[in-house]
Amino acid sequence: DWTPDSFIETTIAGLKEKLGDDKVVLGLSGGVDSSVAAVLLHHAIGANLHCIFVDNGLLRKDEYQSVLDSYQHMGLNIKGIDAKQRFYDALAGLTDPELKRKAIGRVFIEVFDDAAHEVQDVKWLGQGTIYPDVIESVSVKGPSATIKSHHNVGGLPDFMKLKVVEPLNTLFKDEVRNVGKALGIDPNILGRHPFPGPGLAIRILGEVTPEKVAILQEADAIYINNLRSGGVYDKVWQAGSIFLPVQSVGVMGDERTYENVICLRAVESLDGMTADWCHLPYDLLAKISNEIINNVKGINRVVYDISSKPPATIEWE
Ligand code: XMP
Repeated sequence: DWTPDSFIETTIAGLKEKLGDDKVVLGLSGGVDSSVAAVLLHHAIGANLHCIFVDNGLLRKDEYQSVLDSYQHMGLNIKGIDAKQRFYDALAGLTDPELKRKAIGRVFIEVFDDAAHEVQDVKWLGQGTIYPDVIESVSVKGPSATIKSHHNVGGLPDFMKLKVVEPLNTLFKDEVRNVGKALGIDPNILGRHPFPGPGLAIRILGEVTPEKVAILQEADAIYINNLRSGGVYDKVWQAGSIFLPVQSVGVMGDERTYENVICLRAVESLDGMTADWCHLPYDLLAKISNEIINNVKGINRVVYDISSKPPATIEWE
């Protein structure tokens, strides 16, 4: 019978046999899949697993440091790379969502490839691929699509010539969570909402600037913290805030303001393919709106997205 413990035992034994003394590089994202894959590999080969965690400057507020800390607590051999400026430079002047995605994918591959080169004699690329990723042959927006388009343009980056090891490629998401739980991984990592690879860049409509990222991070942190303290975070499949390229008039004291709008989004879903907007309590929305407008400079209006998928999508870009 399949149990998380039996899976862990046979997988670790299999990885030991397959990998021997070989070195593996793996990119961590802070998400569930790559974290569980890393911990399994770590149990099998210890410090021969070299994890890489890239700060693309598009993560949630304080996320880079807190995720890095929790990986270090788990004993993983991890290297954090601050590549914020490279991503911001690549995004400067871009407004088209697909061009933004391509730029982010390209820079990620460059940064990851540089880091992988620093691991002497590495033989394998570890990945957190799960079963639905395997069967979903056409991923329209995922990172693999980015890698494919890069592949069409030029040669393969060196890390893509490595052999691939994917310990989770027979599992569904809920099984991955159960395995992660049995491995003792931080519930904060296992319970996380899905977060897109291009991060806040596709939640800032139009051009991304470090200033807009900073504003969105502040507003989003207020939103997510209130979902947690209000006891609804775990009932929501995915939530996030969007920085709209719209300015509207407001008043602050005796002064007229002319500032940006933040949109809040929260959906219920099973797999992201379809989604319903969440009926968050009005008093919670009121509290979040007040906190954002009173504390985040540059925002004077907050709206809530009441669209479901289809015909809308979860993200705005
Ligand atoms: P949409 O907006 O298509 O999103 O309804 C469905 C799910 O996919 C995530 N998403 C992405 N994930 N790279 C990713 O890794 C992307 O470019 C991307 N675009 C959307 C989205 O957050 C939601 O969970």
